[in-house]
Amino acid sequence: MAYYLMTFSPTGGTKRTADILASVIADQWNHIDLLRPISEISLTADDICLIAVPSFGGRIPTTSAERLANIHANGARAILVCVYGNRAYEDTLSELQDVLTDCGFDCVAAVAAIAEHSIIREFGAGRPDADDSAQLIAFAEKIRERLENPSDKPLVVPGEHGTYKPFKNTPFVPAETDGCVNCGTCADSCPTGAIGDTPDKIDPERCIKCMRCVAVCPTGARKLDETVYVALRERLAAVCGTRKENELFL
Ligand SMILES: Cc1cc2nc3c(=O)[nH]c(=O)nc-3n(C[C@H](O)[C@H](O)[C@H](O)COP(=O)(O)O)c2cc1C
Repeated sequence: MAYYLMTFSPTGGTKRTADILASVIADQWNHIDLLRPISEISLTADDICLIAVPSFGGRIPTTSAERLANIHANGARAILVCVYGNRAYEDTLSELQDVLTDCGFDCVAAVAAIAEHSIIREFGAGRPDADDSAQLIAFAEKIRERLENPSDKPLVVPGEHGTYKPFKNTPFVPAETDGCVNCGTCADSCPTGAIGDTPDKIDPERCIKCMRCVAVCPTGARKLDETVYVALRERLAAVCGTRKENELFL
């Protein structure tokens, strides 16, 4: 029996949340980083996996779904985690459940949690905070109990199954600005290989707008266009203002 922590976390909020939950459930986890392509993995029914993804437009990031498809779960149990930026997560958990069921997982528990909004960081700022940590620890204790005492009832999570909220790929891409020193960190870190041999070469079709290049830039030179940023902030202010709470589904 082994524990696997699988995360797709471009700017770190999803991983921070997953780590809090995982630390209570088991001492030793094998980390599988879905930011990089993964080769085929075969699990057994004894294995336990915590799979954490962010919500992008109320869906799971397409790249994470493609990589998860390489896992043959063979009945391994899955704890689903969706992390969102204090707006809404709509079909993220239901889509993740469908993807994992197709891989052969037995989905036993799910958590929806809030972290800083990775595009406009003032929404959900500082989250997961101390209150979130305490709540996530309490959730993880319940999950651990459920793993020890399995239920016959199927896991039910919010959202549609099969027919999801259409994903609107936002037209903007982050770009380099004057402070760019051409160090290549953005290109090396991009989960989809969308950045070419110089930071100005970006394939807009490949870019999933995950903000990883912005987060890892050592000089803070990679940014969204100011007009796009301001318009997005205004739009999100109407729906991200009120504090949302973490949720557990068992
Ligand atoms: C392209 C994109 C789309 C997003 N869509 C949503 C959304 O629909 N609802 C929401 O609450 N947060 C949304 N967010 C915010 C992220 O879900 C949130 O910040 C998450 O913690 C990011 O994970 P990470 O820190 O591991 O990268 C979006 C972020 C990005 C980059």
